[in-house]
Amino acid sequence: MMSLFERFGCGAMVGMLVLVFTLFCCWLPVQVGADFAYPDVFNDPDRDTPLYGKFPDGFAWGSATSAYQVEGGWDADGKGKSIWDTLAQAGGCAYGQTGNVACDSYNKYAQDVQLAKAMGLTHYRFSISWPRVMPDGTLASLNEAGLAYYEALVDELLKENIEPVVTLYHWDLPQVLQDVYGGWENDSLVELFNDYADVCFERLGSKVKLWITFNEPYVVCWLGYGIGVFAPNINDPGYGPYRAAHTIIKSHGMAYNTYQQKYKAQYGGQVSITLSTDFGLPEDENNPAHVAAADRYMQFTAGWFAHPIFKNGDYPDVMKWQVGNKSLAQGLSESRLPVFTEEEKQYIAGTGDFFGLNAYTTTVCKDNFRPTDPNYEDDQDVDRYQPDNWPKSGSDWLRPVPWGLRRLLNWVSQEYGKPIYITENGVSTADVAELNDTSRQTYYGAYINEVLKASVLDGVDVSGYFAWSLMDNFEWTSGYTQRFGLHYVDFEDPDRPRTQKDSAAFYAGLVAYNGFEEAGNGAVAVTSTYFVLATLLIVYFLL
Ligand code: GAL
Repeated sequence: MMSLFERFGCGAMVGMLVLVFTLFCCWLPVQVGADFAYPDVFNDPDRDTPLYGKFPDGFAWGSATSAYQVEGGWDADGKGKSIWDTLAQAGGCAYGQTGNVACDSYNKYAQDVQLAKAMGLTHYRFSISWPRVMPDGTLASLNEAGLAYYEALVDELLKENIEPVVTLYHWDLPQVLQDVYGGWENDSLVELFNDYADVCFERLGSKVKLWITFNEPYVVCWLGYGIGVFAPNINDPGYGPYRAAHTIIKSHGMAYNTYQQKYKAQYGGQVSITLSTDFGLPEDENNPAHVAAADRYMQFTAGWFAHPIFKNGDYPDVMKWQVGNKSLAQGLSESRLPVFTEEEKQYIAGTGDFFGLNAYTTTVCKDNFRPTDPNYEDDQDVDRYQPDNWPKSGSDWLRPVPWGLRRLLNWVSQEYGKPIYITENGVSTADVAELNDTSRQTYYGAYINEVLKASVLDGVDVSGYFAWSLMDNFEWTSGYTQRFGLHYVDFEDPDRPRTQKDSAAFYAGLVAYNGFEEAGNGAVAVTSTYFVLATLLIVYFLL
């Protein structure tokens, strides 16, 4: 029997093989394009359709870390103790783990910068540890060695053309300020924070153009001063959160004004705050009570800080109404929600140059009247849950809901009208050595695609996106049991080696293209070239 080669000739066979390869290439992109869609729980056929295209020029691509989670060097070179050192060293985190060494970024910061560089990042967000710079929290204790660390990190970033984005407070309050003043519940911290911020602006202001005063004050206030599961472990759910928030908002306002008065003209940087909220989705969007409940939830989380800072210097009306009425019903003579003076309102209003948003997930809200003891959550009259059929991650609270981010961005934009930096977004996996982290690639692909939709289709002014996190690190009370990194860190090895995960390469691809390359079109262009070549080959050899 004649072989195919004999029958058609070698040239024609090569042509056919090329043709088969061409058809394979046409099939491939369809698979790739479908990669980052989670199951659609609401049966909306269009919701998860990927969008291809680019972000606006100059879009900031970054990743983020925070001091206590990565630095280690907990008492190096004169650093003071923070409230997180205290909590972890007392055994308050998973398996008694601590951030004493963490990723050892105190010594390995140059390596971290190389990781960011290898991904092509334009920005890197890190935080300054207040007790490293001022061990007892006051100017009198200024620690030059601590400042030198941050100067070196900033210089290293700039050397590699990466813009530093600096958070002044990512939860690690000097322990002395907790002991002496009771932390954020005490008004004295307003001036003390201002002194600290002033030093940072003065010493780093010529090089740092994006400043964030506080990271997620909602978490500080509720988890730290409400239910006491985070440092400083204060359990006072009806009063603690409101008092702490009041001081934090004033501290932010004063630091912002200090920058405007002393540094803005010279350095021209931008100062704002990073706020966190889940997207509050009404259980039934046609039920006005559920819609109002979702809005109350958003106002009690993001609005609590954003309303005074980006609007009128005062709390949202709905918070004043809810907490005031609950307080009355509880027999109190005044609201548990503190009141700003007119002067304070004036210096707080308008103190954000951009909206820093940390966004991870979505929560379903419905109205439920809660006549209970003083409690910040009960004050909201909202029941919340995440449906069982939403996808899961390595953290109980973090169900991947990418389309919620698009809606959240629209909400923030409509509410506050400011350019938005997504200063954190990311996902955890369990504590396993997994470099082929497909679930993280799916998460990033899906979420960032929703950011693109918000930017391109909805016209939301999104200026940048920061992946949480550059590398696996100390996840607060969960210790090292939940890994959020684009890079794997071996915490058993004293050298803390970092290894790139596949998600880092995936993210670098988005950064390089500045968005999502239309796999379909790209492939069609490539495959049609193959097709023409193949046809020419076949015709040539047949003739
Ligand atoms: C944020 C926090 C980060 C990080 C992340 C993941 O709330 O700012 O420090 O822990 O959550 O849980």
